[in-house]
Amino acid sequence: MNIIKVNDYQEMSEKASQYIIDKVKANPKMVLGLATGGTPEGTYKRLIEDHNQNGTSYDGIETFNLDEYVGLSGDHPQSYRHYMNERFFNHIDINKENTYVPRGNTVDAEAECEAYEALMASVGGIDLQILGIGGNGHIGFNEPGTSFQSPTHIVDLAQSTKEANARYFANIDEVPNQAITMGIASIMKSREILLLISGESKHEAYKQLIEGEIKENFPASILRNHPYVTIIADKAAIGE
Ligand code: GLP
Repeated sequence: MNIIKVNDYQEMSEKASQYIIDKVKANPKMVLGLATGGTPEGTYKRLIEDHNQNGTSYDGIETFNLDEYVGLSGDHPQSYRHYMNERFFNHIDINKENTYVPRGNTVDAEAECEAYEALMASVGGIDLQILGIGGNGHIGFNEPGTSFQSPTHIVDLAQSTKEANARYFANIDEVPNQAITMGIASIMKSREILLLISGESKHEAYKQLIEGEIKENFPASILRNHPYVTIIADKAAIGE
């Protein structure tokens, strides 16, 4: 894993956006895997600024998001589809039909998981997957204990994850109990991964990722087995 150390959240966002811009320019038809949460928000902001200033185009790319809450429709303000539209897609020249987020309000969530996995395969897989990390080491919504062999599947959210994400909802009872997420195996199929880690609250996760053993109880640890991972981490996360 290649680790790029930066001073703070802002520098992480700048570096991450430049990294993505370079990849999109090199391959304007790339398949980009996207993440939600607080971590990549600054990166999306920078990408929009760059699009407005320099005209970097996204009209040939396709995107796949990691996850979505079960039960929320795409126009629900806390759905990840809504997050992506508001924070990124609505502000660039991407063809929305080429942006995929699992459908959380589908009647058959199992079928949605299978269809999503098949769709990723049908476009030739993900070229670059952007990731954040949960304090308990989750990636996407793959909670500790998830099989490293898992494809896209339905998960029960850990209480700690619901608590961490409650800040986006009126209260914790509004946070859905389940989500659809790309599995660990789906994520590991990406040709390249860019993991963003910022803030003191992620320090333990960072440490365990770098120093701990590779085990299903710490899902992100599997990334150490991936041939092409870049981490952009700030000082607070690294513990400097
Ligand atoms: C959320 C998302 C993940 C995200 C992680 C960290 O639950 N499902 O994709 O990477 O938790 O979120 P944040 O960046 O807000 O700390």
